[in-house]
Amino acid sequence: MRVIHTIAELRQALAGQQRTAFVPTMGNLHEGHLSLVREAARRGGPVVVSIFVNRLQFLPHEDFDQYPRTLARDCELLAPAGCDIVFAPSESELYPEPQAYKVQPPAALADLLEGEFRPGFFTGVCTVVMKLFQIVQPAVAVFGQKDYQQLAVIRGMVRQFALPIEIVGHATVRADDGLALSSRNGYLQPAERVEAIALAQSLRQLAAGARDGAATLASIEAAAADSLRARGWVPDYLTLRRRSDLLPPTDAERLAGEPLVALGAARLGQTRLIDNLEL
Ligand code: PAF
Repeated sequence: MRVIHTIAELRQALAGQQRTAFVPTMGNLHEGHLSLVREAARRGGPVVVSIFVNRLQFLPHEDFDQYPRTLARDCELLAPAGCDIVFAPSESELYPEPQAYKVQPPAALADLLEGEFRPGFFTGVCTVVMKLFQIVQPAVAVFGQKDYQQLAVIRGMVRQFALPIEIVGHATVRADDGLALSSRNGYLQPAERVEAIALAQSLRQLAAGARDGAATLASIEAAAADSLRARGWVPDYLTLRRRSDLLPPTDAERLAGEPLVALGAARLGQTRLIDNLEL
């Protein structure tokens, strides 16, 4: 496995490759990332994993400085998972000048849910992913379904810019107790780590109520948020959405079996967690 830090060297290493498989990450890797890498290896090769903490997708008060940078350990995990090349550019390599050209996803998809609570987040994600796609030129790229809205936004970007890249969504990997694996789980205090499973439980509560004709969507969502609040969480959203466009279903759609997804984001102490459940 090679570790490459510059765009020029990466382009040279990948010259002539037709089936490059790509997994973009911000590092601090866990089993969830490694399952994306194994999926990438099944679908193509060489497998390139980028590790880059992208300043553009962090709000000023967020954890950009604190975000763990663990390149040596990440590389130890990546080699046995089937990664051929780690692309770990410095900030000045990827953004040698302020990134003034940006990819602006549509407000209808990007300004709700995560975008409502993290304004500009998806512009930052799309801009860096578009740039990484131009550099790596993969045939296939694998993203985790844990970041459900991010996956939808990236799929839309690839479709509308006619990028010749197959986007693969990979199932969320969970700990034994059901907590979705996330780099931010590392911020949890031991008691919070035990409590953290309540977010997935509240998504199951939403799913259980989803087809209840006697309840309104608002009452189902309020009950799930209240249960989390009672346990000391601060929910940003707990909601049932249409899988197709992440907008709220009408009652008729909800009761007629429209494919839905339960999505949640909530803060436990200092840590903000997100999760989702398709139903
Ligand atoms: O999902 C992530 O880790 C990031 O949003 C991504 C896709 C690597 C872009 O920085």
